[in-house]
Amino acid sequence: MTEIDFLPTPYLQTVETGTVSYKSPSNIALVKYWGKKENQIPQNPSISFTLDACATTTQVSFKKLEHKGVGFSFDLWFEGQQKEDFKPKINTFFSRIEQYLPFLKEYHFKIETSNSFPHSSGIASSASGMSALALCLMDIEKKLVGHMSAAFFIKKASFLARLGSGSACRSIEGTIVQWGAHKNTQGSSDLYGIKYPYEVHANFNNFQDTILLVDKGQKQVSSTVGHNLMHDHPYASERFKQAHDNLDKLMAVFKTGDLVEFIKIVESEALTLHAMMMTSLPYFILMKPNTLEIINKIWAFREQTGSHVCFTLDAGANVHVLYPENEKQKVYQFIKDELLVYCENQQYICDQIALGAKQLAGNHP
Ligand code: DP6
Repeated sequence: MTEIDFLPTPYLQTVETGTVSYKSPSNIALVKYWGKKENQIPQNPSISFTLDACATTTQVSFKKLEHKGVGFSFDLWFEGQQKEDFKPKINTFFSRIEQYLPFLKEYHFKIETSNSFPHSSGIASSASGMSALALCLMDIEKKLVGHMSAAFFIKKASFLARLGSGSACRSIEGTIVQWGAHKNTQGSSDLYGIKYPYEVHANFNNFQDTILLVDKGQKQVSSTVGHNLMHDHPYASERFKQAHDNLDKLMAVFKTGDLVEFIKIVESEALTLHAMMMTSLPYFILMKPNTLEIINKIWAFREQTGSHVCFTLDAGANVHVLYPENEKQKVYQFIKDELLVYCENQQYICDQIALGAKQLAGNHP
């Protein structure tokens, strides 16, 4: 499919007013997206586990305007309070997607959104937030079009979410989503995420992710700035090639269930992501001393016990501790005994892989 396939068909229905609502999770990348071209096109394919507990709930109430507006008309409520400072982000998102959703200037929207995780926990909310909003907008478009297949609905929601934030296109479905064209993945596309289409070994069922909140402060460097620094990066082309190779390796791992190989790929991807940050110009470091303490403890625990626990990082200091369900008790005990001391106020979030976004009845927060 190309961009043109996402232009709307004529709106046959008239809808004056209504309310739609979705709950959408965050996701954690195993092969990372870092570097993009124009229009939110990734430089390399990425793949992620869809999470469950870390999620955004969004409700959009819409009312037809008497005359189509010049700009977009909306109010934004975050956790019960009107949030002016979030509006420019939504405005940019709306202008990027307007050609695909031409009804946007015909309505006033009240967007009410809340996160399941603590605000400013350092957890990226753009993936869950943008995917929840994209789904709500698709639900409105579906009412206007009259009929839309479930498959197209999901594809276009992912396509729109990508235009809000790249990683958001991987939060619509679960449990494993791939985004970015890759020669060995049928149906893969730079335009939207797809549910991983091949066999996945039972070792990955209910895979656990305990997120250790090492530093809850505001990120020093936004993802967008970081992505842009890949443009003149001396190692960029090797890195993009490596992501393709790592995806091939991970596909083999998903089939065989080889957790030792899984750990190698996932940890190497996390460290490569941060190595790219450290070797860009300007260079920056997002890990904190406690991030490294945790990594070393995980390596020591693995060495001593033969556990299959490993870590990954996103663009920040927090650590995602990944482990199979059958090691849940043992690893959780280890986290409590040895890792929580490195978290800000001992804070952490227990999560696991899940199936993706869910529609809710209207009138949620
Ligand atoms: C390090 O999706 O936040 O988490 O497209 O600019 O919104 P924008 O970037 P974003 O980048 C996420 C980068 C990452 C890796 C990943 O999730 O693949």
